Amino acid sequence: MERESTQENASLPSHPRESPKRPILTYSEALALLRKYIPDEKTIYHSERCAEKAYELASRIRAKHPDLTLDPEKVRIGALLHDIGKSQPGEHEINSVEILKKEGLPELAELVCHSYPYEILLLRGIEKPEYLPTSLENKIVIYTDYLIDPDGNSTTMEERIREIKTRKKDQIQRMKALTLAEPRLYKLRDEVEGLLGE
Ligand SMILES: [Fe+2]
Repeated sequence: MERESTQENASLPSHPRESPKRPILTYSEALALLRKYIPDEKTIYHSERCAEKAYELASRIRAKHPDLTLDPEKVRIGALLHDIGKSQPGEHEINSVEILKKEGLPELAELVCHSYPYEILLLRGIEKPEYLPTSLENKIVIYTDYLIDPDGNSTTMEERIREIKTRKKDQIQRMKALTLAEPRLYKLRDEVEGLLGE
């Protein structure tokens, strides 16, 4: 994928706490990339709603905590692309990371690791701490995915987890992994909500 901001970013000051002045991809470039991998409109709509919500949460946190390293536009693009690996076989969360790396977008690959791939692999005897979120931007993307249901409607993390457990009840191992991940996901929710001051 062509990245239009390379030249301008090269001249930006490189203070570590400064956010990039321009997004890595524009919204329309990211949407075109999503459409290259995702054929169904339902997933596209869910992703667009996630992008909208993630941008809102990130902007509110940034307004309250200007000292934090947080770029709402980057979060919006990460949320838009989090399900990009969904139409490929295997765990879609891991596919999303790999697709963005392959597309030459490692900064966005770090943001799209969502749900519970860490626990899925742990139950297979593989420990991959790189699938746990470390940045606030990644945590906002993860949390947002639990606030928007597959149809694009707003929900809560509790309701969303209940909905996933009903819809995927036949995927025994995956649901075991979700149960294992639940305390971590609720802790992540509390962290983000704490920054929102709610
Ligand atoms: Fe999602």
